Amino acid sequence: MNNIRYTTDLTDVSWDEMKRVLVEDSFDNLRSPKQLRESFENSFKAVIAYANSSIIGTARVLSDGVCNAYIVDVWTYTPYRRRGIAKRMVEMLTEKLDGQHVALFTEEAKMFYKRLGFSDFEGGMAKVVGAWLKLETI
Ligand SMILES: CC(C)(COP(=O)(O)OP(=O)(O)OC[C@H]1O[C@@H](n2cnc3c(N)ncnc32)[C@H](O)[C@@H]1OP(=O)(O)O)[C@@H](O)C(=O)NCCC(=O)NCCS
Repeated sequence: MNNIRYTTDLTDVSWDEMKRVLVEDSFDNLRSPKQLRESFENSFKAVIAYANSSIIGTARVLSDGVCNAYIVDVWTYTPYRRRGIAKRMVEMLTEKLDGQHVALFTEEAKMFYKRLGFSDFEGGMAKVVGAWLKLETI
């Protein structure tokens, strides 16, 4: 897609716009715009995909920069799916992760990740510390 722009520069991101489109596309996990900003800015790397000035994709990775990484918030706005946008974003995330174990959780998108070389692994565990997400007034 020629008109899709990918950026790792978060300087001019409209977090209100990101929140709006995530809600519209039913991929909102209740973070406020401020919490979206914090979670993206605190990531090792984040990619935003734009169609013109509209946010149509996100992906980010947490990493210690040495051996372990964790991919989250991989999403393509529904009207733009199956055009290689998420594939490109995940490839951008992983291009500097040589030698690292890259983990993620997914139920719906296993085939997508399998196409990118990910495989199931046994032994994953998780815990929410306290209550999930400290909710803020949006
Ligand atoms: C999963 C998701 C990110 C894929 O985004 P996308 O931009 O459509 O993915 P791509 O076009 O880059 O897909 C690359 C390849 O992955 C595979 N793929 C993508 N979505 C798939 C699906 N729903 N089912 C099976 N295979 C899929 C296809 O092989 C595709 O290549 P193709 O178009 O030649 O068939 C998108 O469907 C989405 O946002 N889903 C909701 C959020 C979500 O579940 N995110 C993952 C949470 S970890």
